[in-house]
Amino acid sequence: MSERYESIQQDLRQTPRKWLVTGCAGFIGSNLLETLLKLDQTVVGLDNFATGHQHNLDEVRNSVVPAQWERFTFIEGDIRDLEICQQATQGVDYVLHQAALGSVPRSLNDPITTNAVNISGFLNMLVAARDAKVKTFVYAASSSTYGDHPALPKVEDTIGNPLSPYAVTKYVNELYADVFERSYGFRSVGLRYFNVFGKRQDPDGAYAAVIPKWTSAMIRGDDVQINGDGETSRDFCFVDNAVQANLLAALASDEGINQVYNVAYSGRTTLNQLYDFLAKTLAEQGVQYDKKPVYVDFRAGDVRHSQADIGKAGKLLGYQPEFDIQRGLQTAMPWYTKFLR
Ligand SMILES: NC(=O)c1ccc[n+]([C@@H]2O[C@H](COP(=O)([O-])OP(=O)(O)OC[C@H]3O[C@@H](n4cnc5c(N)ncnc54)[C@H](O)[C@@H]3O)[C@@H](O)[C@H]2O)c1
Repeated sequence: MSERYESIQQDLRQTPRKWLVTGCAGFIGSNLLETLLKLDQTVVGLDNFATGHQHNLDEVRNSVVPAQWERFTFIEGDIRDLEICQQATQGVDYVLHQAALGSVPRSLNDPITTNAVNISGFLNMLVAARDAKVKTFVYAASSSTYGDHPALPKVEDTIGNPLSPYAVTKYVNELYADVFERSYGFRSVGLRYFNVFGKRQDPDGAYAAVIPKWTSAMIRGDDVQINGDGETSRDFCFVDNAVQANLLAALASDEGINQVYNVAYSGRTTLNQLYDFLAKTLAEQGVQYDKKPVYVDFRAGDVRHSQADIGKAGKLLGYQPEFDIQRGLQTAMPWYTKFLR
């Protein structure tokens, strides 16, 4: 484990803080909540269940001891409501802002709602966090901000044109965070997540991410569709790596604050390789899947290749991801085979 991450965890155990996790009923938010409660932190959670689920919160409750669960307060509410954001940020040391509408296709189908949640909701959270004088505001940015820039690996300073309304919203988040620093001395850190995966990532619905979608199809014995030729590549990042980045970012030194960072493993996996990894990992769990993939059209708004340079997060935050894709899949798969059968 990264030395910095270990020392931060010790520090948090010794001197617990109060955190706000927005989007706590979602995939990444519920994993953050679980880690913070296991470190005996006090946590406020905010979610409107737009894409999150009560069963994610129930699972977290079952994974911690009662005394830890008692340190959690849940607010069911919408970040588009400034008063809710003000209520949620009261007395909070650190905000981990995850609430947003994810998915490129969703934003192409309904750009207005994506804009309202991801931009107006984000701005509400910034204003509320500024007024509540939180120490650091860590927010979920996105690798989609690299847009059509062809360079690989992706380095934080070099971005292209956004390829979807979703990508615009995530870039606007960065611009707002920046201007809040210049205007109000606000302290924030943006984490550009690259294809995060792990337990509690939603396998259902039209906007499901590739790993849970394919995994559940394979468990059911259904066909798996690959968009394009399968040579599209991604830097898949196991959720524990993203959790590490959030904690490091919240407690970053002054040098690390008011920056954006790639959060990934820095590997590159094609969809064809992913397909094989999933079938192999499922076989280790006793689930045999021998079908060939079905190739369909490329998906609109998708970037062709994505791979992160994670040097900046390593240098300024002490980020050292512990899980490559295969170790991440092996860790996540028992959850999928238990819950998706
Ligand atoms: N999963 C990834 O690979 C990935 C990649 C890049 C960026 N991100 C970003 O990370 C964050 C978390 O993503 P996730 O994968 O956990 O998605 P998720 O859909 O599981 O979680 C998002 C949570 O936000 C909540 N939410 C949505 N609109 C809300 C609103 N108006 N008010 C309050 N809560 C609201 C949802 O109910 C859900 O629980 C998002 O900001 C997303 O854009 C994720």
